[in-house]
Amino acid sequence: MIRSVVRGNGAALPRRIMKNADFEGMVETSDEWIVQRTGIRQRHVAADDETTASLGEAAARAALGSAGMTPADIDLIILATSTPNNTFPATAVEIQNRLGMHHGFAFDMQAVCSGFVYAVATADLYIRGGLARRVLVIGSETFSRILDWNDRSTCVLFGDGAGALVLEAEEGAGAITDRGVLAASLRSDGVHKDKLFVDGGPSTTGTVGHLRMEGREVFKHAVGMITDVIEATFGEAGITAEDLDWFVPHQANKRIIDASAKKLGIAEQKVVVTVDLHGNTSAASVPLALSVAVADGRIKKGDLVLLEAMGGGFTWGAVLLRW
Ligand code: UT7
Repeated sequence: MIRSVVRGNGAALPRRIMKNADFEGMVETSDEWIVQRTGIRQRHVAADDETTASLGEAAARAALGSAGMTPADIDLIILATSTPNNTFPATAVEIQNRLGMHHGFAFDMQAVCSGFVYAVATADLYIRGGLARRVLVIGSETFSRILDWNDRSTCVLFGDGAGALVLEAEEGAGAITDRGVLAASLRSDGVHKDKLFVDGGPSTTGTVGHLRMEGREVFKHAVGMITDVIEATFGEAGITAEDLDWFVPHQANKRIIDASAKKLGIAEQKVVVTVDLHGNTSAASVPLALSVAVADGRIKKGDLVLLEAMGGGFTWGAVLLRW
């Protein structure tokens, strides 16, 4: 059977780093509160000349470089983002143009923090369905543009950045030992819309709006939703937590990551944590975490890697792949 195998990965971060202490004069908060409640120590914040498209392009070029490919080799670009450059056209098409690609096709995918997991699962279906052989899957966000910088309960949590993977079709045996995407499980439930949303949009207010979150409510649901969808993925693949080499969760809150790993029986040393470095970068968080763990030599060819995310909607999902 056809498998979607990772050929390369890359990342891009805005130049400016904002430390927790930098918020202390802006809103009533402290480095101590932010670290204790979230694990975040710093985040990158985009300058005016850094956009979802420019960061996505840079991550895409890095991923192509690590795959030894050029844009000419790619058939499809899927960009996971909730902060597109414009309402339309899709920022994926802008990235396609920036890469000098005038063949194939590109589209955006909107599942907020779960966007990258949704996009990898979708790319896998395009590859296995024969509609594309090589896909650039990008997660890129500039959440700093939709934050209410006077709201301490949200402005300290998010950051900007981008990450990307190149997936390519390869013949596999249909076994768990194959490289590539092995299982995926996606969920959403709009009943939770008001717990995490943006209070503007083209069809309602005609404005971009600002992010609003009932953090405690999101927290309450997160661990249960994350562990349920991972157990479904384990069931589909016929594996247990013991078989995993690496757990690469969405990076929203260290307490959510720790509680999820504990409930699933995933050993602490297998968990990739980058929330301290990047904050919550929504659809970029999983590929940014992957880029750190690949660069420092933790994730290697043949390793069994579990990706997971949960966010606005609510949306949530998991992807199991062999690197
Ligand atoms: O990526 C999408 C998914 N998103 C998430 O997973 C986020 C989920 N939620 C969370 O991570 C946590 O709920 C937060 C980090 C947002 C908040 O942590 P918490 O432990 O749930 O705190 P809380 O909301 O219950 O607030 C505790 C206190 C409140 O004060 P009172 O009411 O106890 O007097 C807040 O007003 O902390 C206060 N607070 C702050 N204090 C200092 C809220 N934000 C801040 C702040 N600095 N930045």
